[in-house]
Amino acid sequence: MSSSHEILTILAHVMHPVVTQGLVPVCRKFGLHPVILTDHPAAYQRSLSPKDATVIGCDVFNPLAVIRTLSDQHIQPRGVLSNSDHLQTSTALVAARFGLPGKDWRLCLIAKHKGETRKYLRKMGLPTPWFYTLATHDPLPENIPFPIVAKPVEGVASLDVRFCETVDELIAFRDDMIQRRPQTLQLEAYLQGPLFTIETWGDGQDLHAIGGFDVTLSPPPYFIERSALWNGPVSRHHRHKALEQLRKIGIGLGVCHSEFIATLSGPVLVEINYRSVGDGREFCLDRLCDGAWFEGLIALHLGQPVGPLLPRHLQDRHCAIYYHLAEQSGRLMVLPDEFVEKIPGGEARYHSLKTTGEMIKLSHSNKDTLGILTLTAATSEALASLRRRFLPRLTSFQAFEGPSSTILRRVLDAALREDCCQIVSKGDISPSPRDGVWRLCVQHLSGGTLWLDVVPEHFMQTWRMYEPYWWWQDRHGKLCVEQEADSFLSHLSEGLSPFVQENFALYGHEIRCAINHTQHCYEAAQKHLPSLSHALTHSDWRQRLLGIDRIASYTDHPLYPTARAKNGFTSEDLTRYAPEFCPQFYLRWVAFPRSNSHEEGGVPPFWPRMRDVGLPESLEATHFLFPVHPLTWATYEESEVLPATAHPAPCPFLEVTPTLSVRTVALCADPAWHIKVPLQIATLGARNIRFIKPTTLHDGYTVSQILARLQDQNPELRQNIVLVDESRYGFAHNMPSLAFLVRHYPLQLSHTTPVPVAALTSPLADGRLLVAWVVEQFHGGDWLEWARQYTQLFLTVHLRLWLHYGIALESNQQNAVLLYSALEAPRLLMKDNDAARLWSDQLLKACPEVEPLIDTLRDQRLLAENDSALGEMFCTITLQLCLAVPFEMIARAGYVSRHELFRILRDEIHITLSQLEREGWPTAHARALLLEADYLPAKYLMSAGSLFPKELLGVSDINKFYGYSAPNFLKESQS
Ligand SMILES: Nc1ncnc2c1ncn2[C@@H]1O[C@H](COP(=O)(O)OP(=O)(O)O)[C@@H](O)[C@H]1O
Ligand SMILES: [Mg+2]
Repeated sequence: MSSSHEILTILAHVMHPVVTQGLVPVCRKFGLHPVILTDHPAAYQRSLSPKDATVIGCDVFNPLAVIRTLSDQHIQPRGVLSNSDHLQTSTALVAARFGLPGKDWRLCLIAKHKGETRKYLRKMGLPTPWFYTLATHDPLPENIPFPIVAKPVEGVASLDVRFCETVDELIAFRDDMIQRRPQTLQLEAYLQGPLFTIETWGDGQDLHAIGGFDVTLSPPPYFIERSALWNGPVSRHHRHKALEQLRKIGIGLGVCHSEFIATLSGPVLVEINYRSVGDGREFCLDRLCDGAWFEGLIALHLGQPVGPLLPRHLQDRHCAIYYHLAEQSGRLMVLPDEFVEKIPGGEARYHSLKTTGEMIKLSHSNKDTLGILTLTAATSEALASLRRRFLPRLTSFQAFEGPSSTILRRVLDAALREDCCQIVSKGDISPSPRDGVWRLCVQHLSGGTLWLDVVPEHFMQTWRMYEPYWWWQDRHGKLCVEQEADSFLSHLSEGLSPFVQENFALYGHEIRCAINHTQHCYEAAQKHLPSLSHALTHSDWRQRLLGIDRIASYTDHPLYPTARAKNGFTSEDLTRYAPEFCPQFYLRWVAFPRSNSHEEGGVPPFWPRMRDVGLPESLEATHFLFPVHPLTWATYEESEVLPATAHPAPCPFLEVTPTLSVRTVALCADPAWHIKVPLQIATLGARNIRFIKPTTLHDGYTVSQILARLQDQNPELRQNIVLVDESRYGFAHNMPSLAFLVRHYPLQLSHTTPVPVAALTSPLADGRLLVAWVVEQFHGGDWLEWARQYTQLFLTVHLRLWLHYGIALESNQQNAVLLYSALEAPRLLMKDNDAARLWSDQLLKACPEVEPLIDTLRDQRLLAENDSALGEMFCTITLQLCLAVPFEMIARAGYVSRHELFRILRDEIHITLSQLEREGWPTAHARALLLEADYLPAKYLMSAGSLFPKELLGVSDINKFYGYSAPNFLKESQS
């Protein structure tokens, strides 16, 4: 530190701009070098250069430590001061030790403690309300004069200050505090009247009122400051009496900020903050008096008389301060830019206290302030005009990433991916003021103009949202920031047909449902994930199957934005029947006339007999027992949908637990058996009602029989595929709610660990992705080896099925199950083949013997007329969902570079295509589609599943609507 200067010692706690930007710069004017003693030295060292100030770490709450530190450093300060609420007593004692001007330490102690302050006021005969100081576990006093204010006895910034009207409210508040921050509470009768402040300066002899603020507050039960008007009518009117009280109290040296409430019987003190006014107001005052504020603060502590220091002109200036308060918790995404705008006779400035990206947790106190708008003017008229002009800038100019914005972001990204309402293809893109961010301006919508901040994306779409909010300007020119999904949907759909508009509105419900269910899913994951992680190493493969399926349930669908929504499930239904919650329950049963139903494959060994479910045995001859999901059962009870010939069984039977697909349940006693039952919910789009069509049962089994034939003749398929047994199924005629499919996993799986693709990128309790465990366990930690085998497996199976046999399977992430084992290479288990696409020309060429099977297919949509339908299916299901999505997520998690993973994918496609070509199968179309085109088809799930009717899109199946808009990650230049 510079020895030629005298030293001013400043005691500081947390980083505060009054020290760094207020006091330190002024020291030079006094020829002083500031030495900052603080318990947060690193923060101060970061923001001050050693030339400007010396920073020394010290336990500043302990005056003895401060005195010792100064002595050790041989510092004899010229003055010592602090502007911290917490350090006034310490500072006063240190000043006394060095014989410097200082505050009365006893008064500092009293002012810091709200209970002591009240006691002192009462002793001095000054106005004070009823009060009681309540230690954490003390019983409540009798006869509390409600309404009251309860607050921490040494609190700051209105944090945890609460208005309580009843004893119940008080008890609730106190219990909450005991949970969060146990501390002594001050209870006080509620003082009715406006809040005002008085700012005083004193030199120990004289005490002057510099001015004061009229403060407006948020509505009860909180006391958040919303605005402060300099020298407003209330503070002016009561100032004299308030000053008299402060003099009696003995406020002496230094700057002091006191709060009063103007009650009908005169001003009553709320608290003394024996420091300069905070919340950015001191900077405003300092500017108004040309720097005299911080100079005065120092000069008083150097012992100068107050009279000549008093800032002039301050009385005549007009100033109002508005606090821009956060409206919710979450990650802050947008704030107004900081600005200073000067107009004749005045000035407006906005200063941000937070930065975008910051997590905000509402505290219902002054700490919720995002930024401060300060208006200063020469006249009250000019101030009023500034207010009219600048205040609206604050309203609606904030956006948050809260719990709902995860879903909102997915919806907006899907809208961009699917070019919903042509927002991308008809919009204009231009650079935004923010680095790397572009602004998409959409002007062709009926109601107004939409601006989206977007960033370039390489995976599945060319643009994605920068943050989930947007600007909307209506036809009257009113501009605001929005982040409500409903508004977004209504902007897009305005002017479209009423039917489409209704779809959009319905999708709003689905979004809300997804948000709600996501929240439940988070909670369930927290609860169950730790124990589920043990399933990975369970000795019984069926428990591994079940456990890993569960782990997969906590990861959202990669593309359909609201996949989490189980439309039709209440919160209670979720906990009782959704896989995330690992529930177990019993199936219900209905005996239905055999003459009017159909069963295939024979009943499995565990099926109940009539007597097991409480029905007369005589029914065995004429009726068949259908399993019913309890939620479907509930609908029978509400509405009489069952015909008189059906007998709902009184007793539940067969304990089951849901799998990743809610309507497929596993037997608790033997999870190698699964039963799929109809469920009246819609997933992946409100129009995807999960009933079971008899035709799909038949067709699914037929496709698996075809696959089995192909396995017989082709060694590659034989080696790599395992088929589950789906030969048992049944349905009642004209009763879509009575149907079932029994699925049996082959028993030779016992040495394998079955991992559905959907589970690979699910996080485990230790934060690793599940695939990291797979790589460790089965590939000796070699990621590239894992990726190569994984890719080879999918391509060997699916490229061959497509190009050799003319088959594409809708083998989604939950239906494609990898079988890992320490003994052999991974294999692929296939199930649920009811949505395949077969191109019979090709299939019959390659395997004529399956013709009789093809002839029995019921749903003609399964038969493709040409190769392109197969290509689209391969591309969007196998290539994108099963291969590229996990690779992309693994790369994003930082395990392996995306470049390496996609190189493997590209190389293996080349290798497999060449192999097929050598065998004489046509590959030209596949090469063009996969390796040469700039864009791959993407499945437009949101548009087709939820927003637009099939007819409008021109598709026969809502699950097969594609757009060629996904940048081709197989092209070298693009990955
Ligand atoms: N007895 C009371 N009656 C009415 N309002 C009160 C009372 N006590 C506190 N308040 C309100 O709560 C705010 C915060 O209380 P205060 O004692 O100043 O604590 P803090 O140190 O957190 O600022 C005050 O500014 C005032 O608006
Ligand atoms: Mg206060």
